[in-house]
Amino acid sequence: MRIEFRTGKHTDVTCDLMAVPVFEEEVKDAAALRELDRASRGVLKAALASGEFKTELHRTCLVHRPAGFKAGRLLLIGGGKRSDFVLARLREVAGAAVRAGRSAACGSVALLARGGHPLGEAARVCTEGALYGNYEPDDYKTRDWESREVDEFVFVSEGEARSREIQQGILRGIVIGNATNLARNLVNEPANILTPTRFAERALELGAEAGLEVQIIEQEEMEKLGMNTLLAVSRGSEQPPKLIVLRIKDQERKAGKGVPLYALVGKGVTFDSGGISIKPAEKMEEMKADMAGGAAVLGAMIALGQLRPHNRVIGLIPAVENLPSGRATKPGDVVKSFLGKTVEITNTDAEGRLIMADVLAYARSQGATHLVDIATLTGACVIALGWHNAGVMGTNQSMIDRLRKYCSVTGERLWQLPLDDEYRKILRSEIADIKNVGHRYGGAITAAKFLQEFVEDTPWVHIDIAGVDMDHEGRPFAAKGGTGFGVRTLVQLFVAPFRE
Ligand code: BES
Ligand code: ZN
Ligand code: ZN
Repeated sequence: MRIEFRTGKHTDVTCDLMAVPVFEEEVKDAAALRELDRASRGVLKAALASGEFKTELHRTCLVHRPAGFKAGRLLLIGGGKRSDFVLARLREVAGAAVRAGRSAACGSVALLARGGHPLGEAARVCTEGALYGNYEPDDYKTRDWESREVDEFVFVSEGEARSREIQQGILRGIVIGNATNLARNLVNEPANILTPTRFAERALELGAEAGLEVQIIEQEEMEKLGMNTLLAVSRGSEQPPKLIVLRIKDQERKAGKGVPLYALVGKGVTFDSGGISIKPAEKMEEMKADMAGGAAVLGAMIALGQLRPHNRVIGLIPAVENLPSGRATKPGDVVKSFLGKTVEITNTDAEGRLIMADVLAYARSQGATHLVDIATLTGACVIALGWHNAGVMGTNQSMIDRLRKYCSVTGERLWQLPLDDEYRKILRSEIADIKNVGHRYGGAITAAKFLQEFVEDTPWVHIDIAGVDMDHEGRPFAAKGGTGFGVRTLVQLFVAPFRE
């Protein structure tokens, strides 16, 4: 999709569809409503009076051949309360406009930027939202009956012509929006296509284009390194495990004593059957998405490779398949981790923490001073928080606070869960240093406690995305399926934070 911008009157923009957000406060204020209604020559008031249009968020009303417009169609779109209209909402509105354009067979969609945000930031989030909305997981459909892609998105600003700011915002938006869709696409890929090997190949291809150095650590090397909790997971599969390591080119120059190195670690289980502790058949197909954390790290690193952050960042993705077989790890098996601690594996379905434990410890051995991990780790997190917040835990409160503050910009909501020492006792093993599963209560927390054992005193943040990796319902601004959750949050951590 091409992204353009225009400054000037929105009624003069030639396009197939011109989307105009309308806020609740405006329709309650007679003078503001009159002003807005004048541009649409009465359409807005009529649409409101008929009850067809309401200003609630994402609500739309499509009008053909609107008088006074150069656009073929006018899309009124609810912005909700203007006072709640944070950048995340503007991104959604841009996505909803593009999706409305898709289903109305419009090749070009324009959006009038309203809401009073700084223009560079507005242009960035609108670009991200437009790319997000245009995405459809239809690679495997031999025919698409439903909608056509939008070819062009136009960001329209009636205010001051801040072209440089807008242009820069659009460029960033393209990088982040494409990286998010890339992560979504990987999540949507079926597990017969996206094996650990294919995941590694994709990282090599895409990483090279984005200015990353990509290294793949193979099984033999893992064996030498003693990554036995990771290897315990892949044992049951015919597919060899891969550890994908992503570095930003030329960043090593910045290395030196006291210069922090951030490691992003993403769970890359390309299919989680549960292993010998096998899962029930119902919804097992959703476990193709158990690599969503890895996809978020790959997406974020690809974006950062292009955005060139000031901080040193590396990405690590353990990619494995968790299957039962005659070779598979059995409940009760004991293995020695990369760090040297021994683990009793009482449940092979708690495999995410096993691969993450070794890779978090490995990241530290590579000089990481700060750790951020992201994983579809526990069903318990979905029980606790549902589908609209990821769980966040960790030992670096200032980073957690920073991440949570970004939510209104990124739209990726994080809710902190506690990490008190009492939860550690649940993982005591009779025969090893730790077991991988306790009881079911507080399962998202005990999983994090398990990881904590392997990060030791390195500042660390853990994001459990089990409930947010996939959208099960579809939204006005997004197709069902992979959400790419985490890409924007991880990128935001390293690019100069946008003012909210
Ligand atoms: N990949 C799952 C967690 C998951 C569940 C992600 C639902 C997305 C949706 C993870 O590997 C797992 O199976 N966890 C077990 C842990 C249990 C055995 C302690 C779980 O949550 O049931
Ligand atoms: Zn599992
Ligand atoms: Zn899993």
